[in-house]
Amino acid sequence: MRDKIVAGNWKMNNDLAQTEDLLSNIKNLYKENEGVRVIVAPSFTNLYHSFESLRNSKIEVAAQNMNENSEGAFTGEVSARMLTSVGVKIVILGHSERRAIFKETDELLAKKVDAALENDMEVIFCCGEELNERKAEKHFEIVKQQLEKGLFHLSEEQWEKIIIAYEPVWAIGTGETASPEQAQEMHAFIRKSISEKFGSELANKIAILYGGSVKPGNAQEIFAKEDVDGGLIGGASLKAEDFMAIANAF
Ligand code: 13P
Repeated sequence: MRDKIVAGNWKMNNDLAQTEDLLSNIKNLYKENEGVRVIVAPSFTNLYHSFESLRNSKIEVAAQNMNENSEGAFTGEVSARMLTSVGVKIVILGHSERRAIFKETDELLAKKVDAALENDMEVIFCCGEELNERKAEKHFEIVKQQLEKGLFHLSEEQWEKIIIAYEPVWAIGTGETASPEQAQEMHAFIRKSISEKFGSELANKIAILYGGSVKPGNAQEIFAKEDVDGGLIGGASLKAEDFMAIANAF
């Protein structure tokens, strides 16, 4: 059985006091559900505190990004070792906001993936097409390219640390969700692409999350699809009640 995962990407939201509040509400509402992992991804400045605050909880902490270099003159950047030294063992890489706003390329992301794996971290690797690409029916081609360039150089053993998040850019923060059928279609395509390169045994082990306007009202029907193994949640992860309702949608 694949892991089911619900991860909250808090993006650039929540100062320390707000982080404390949200974590305490999430902890209060959290009900352990065998086989379902719950992950929160606060900003860099709140990672240490979050890790401390969740020390006796099964809720896990992820970073939203990191630099591909191990150390050195990279003003303003954060390395994998800095993250692991405060207890963080999961990092989100390749989010569409990093790709679009901060111009992160597939080549750069491949280096970031390598750096994370060298530090024994798990990677939530994001992929997804923009609206014009879907309209031009290029969505499969785009997602396949992102996977090939970012992940297909990895060894089978390294794939054990990979979680994929399919986030169609047109569904992020827009209130417009991919239909459960559209999500399933792309998730099955992603699994098939991995299977063609690495075999079905490996492909069947990889958790593939859906992201883009997931809410308590639509989580259940999306998560019910065969190849959807959970969600990467933005806006709705900032409210403890909504986030935990989504986590309990399995
Ligand atoms: P929303 O859930 O706000 O659409 O954001 C999705 C996302 O970008 C998660 O990484």
